[in-house]
Amino acid sequence: MDVTIIGCGYVGLVTGTCLASIGHTVRGVEKDQRKLKSLLEGHCPIFEPGLQELMTENMSEGRLSFTENVKTAVKDAEIVFLCVGTPPKPDGTVDMSFLEGAGKEVCDALAELNNDYLVTIIVKSTVPAGTNRKLHNFLKTQTKAYVQVVSNPEFLKEGTAVQDCLAPDRIVVGGESPEAFRMIRRLYDPLVKREEHFMTMNWESAELTKYAANAMLAARISFMNEMTILCDAYGADVEDIRKGIGTDSRIGPAFLRAGCGYGGSCFPKDVAALEHISRAVGYQNLFVDVIQQVNENQKKRFVEKIAGKLGRPLQGATIAVWGLAFKADTDDIRESPALNVIRYLLDGGAKVRAHDYKGMENMRQVFKDEIEFVSDPVTAAAGCDAVALITDWPQYTTLPFRKIAATMNQPIIFDGRNCLQRDVMRESGFQYYPMGRPPVEQTLRLKNRV
Ligand code: UGA
Repeated sequence: MDVTIIGCGYVGLVTGTCLASIGHTVRGVEKDQRKLKSLLEGHCPIFEPGLQELMTENMSEGRLSFTENVKTAVKDAEIVFLCVGTPPKPDGTVDMSFLEGAGKEVCDALAELNNDYLVTIIVKSTVPAGTNRKLHNFLKTQTKAYVQVVSNPEFLKEGTAVQDCLAPDRIVVGGESPEAFRMIRRLYDPLVKREEHFMTMNWESAELTKYAANAMLAARISFMNEMTILCDAYGADVEDIRKGIGTDSRIGPAFLRAGCGYGGSCFPKDVAALEHISRAVGYQNLFVDVIQQVNENQKKRFVEKIAGKLGRPLQGATIAVWGLAFKADTDDIRESPALNVIRYLLDGGAKVRAHDYKGMENMRQVFKDEIEFVSDPVTAAAGCDAVALITDWPQYTTLPFRKIAATMNQPIIFDGRNCLQRDVMRESGFQYYPMGRPPVEQTLRLKNRV
């Protein structure tokens, strides 16, 4: 099929590239000149495992191309994806201006064409309930072209986006046109493994499904993060509890890992948006309120734990921060717990030496010379009073810990992701503080206690 993608950000680029890889002809429209230049040269502007390779393959086989011109891009399109951002406004409501602008531009372009076939406009962006219906009604008044708006929320995760896109758990489609549903079913045909995993519903149900999915996943994490408080108080192990409940087939094992809080461009934004969507109908959503509060508290608790167990004042201490990205396998630092943790450490008078495998450049834009950026984790820890691990990059689990302990001022690790092995920490001579798990406390060979 002939597909146009408006907005080659994260979702748009992954979706477009994956659709090209299953045989469709895809044109991506990007207005940001820097990003467009990179795309035209065949360079993937974001870090996402497998995406660059897939892009190169599909561009060279002629199925994937990029332009800044909406008009030429929609000329032959049967399907137009709107993949523009819906960022939160300062008051927490969703900024719809990019979506409305893109919809209008597509509409103007379609109005100049006299095509007599159906153009399905798919909204991938996460939008409040009722938005797609409004957009549909708006576009109907703007164009002579035969258009149908359909909501098709995205469930892919950064770091595994290509895989998630090519092997989705389910495809959710909201709208009211059986003809548009049939077109989308055809578009996704190679990806539909079981018919019941292709779901059609009304616009509002599809829109709320997206928010509900992210809020449910965030709730599971916040629930486990709350459990770490009880685990710390009673000497229980949150990892044992995770296994103990995750094997219940009604609960399932996913998204039960406790830590120093969730981040990213989606969970914080979508949970906050759900709160506002609730308020808009006069309802205070207590549940989503708590999910967010727990997440904020967890980042503070992590720093309080550091201050409490450091064995010296935080003021004047040097802390190595391992991990800046909001999770492993991405350079994305949006709403990363590292942002708050570093800020709290600085506010407490500590010095920070930071390391990440991909997120250093992005974090440099935020903290500039307020903190020191060090290109490898071993050097970052040398001379420090503690390490605070915030992102679960697998590389951190196999570092030469004995060597690291020997170079630190105090060999103490605060594991905000519960990803290091307690035995290894003990054998390497570390004082080890995970989240909601029994710590390893041993006599330290302190070099320079203040
Ligand atoms: C999330 C959802 O998982 C996707 O399904 C959704 O499509 C996407 O948002 C979106 O709305 O676009 P993403 O933000 O890429 O995907 O990342 P996740 O893997 O969900 O992780 C989010 C945060 O939760 C990370 O900070 C991660 O460290 C944290 N997390 C995740 C935990 O603290 N514990 C867990 O068990 C899992």
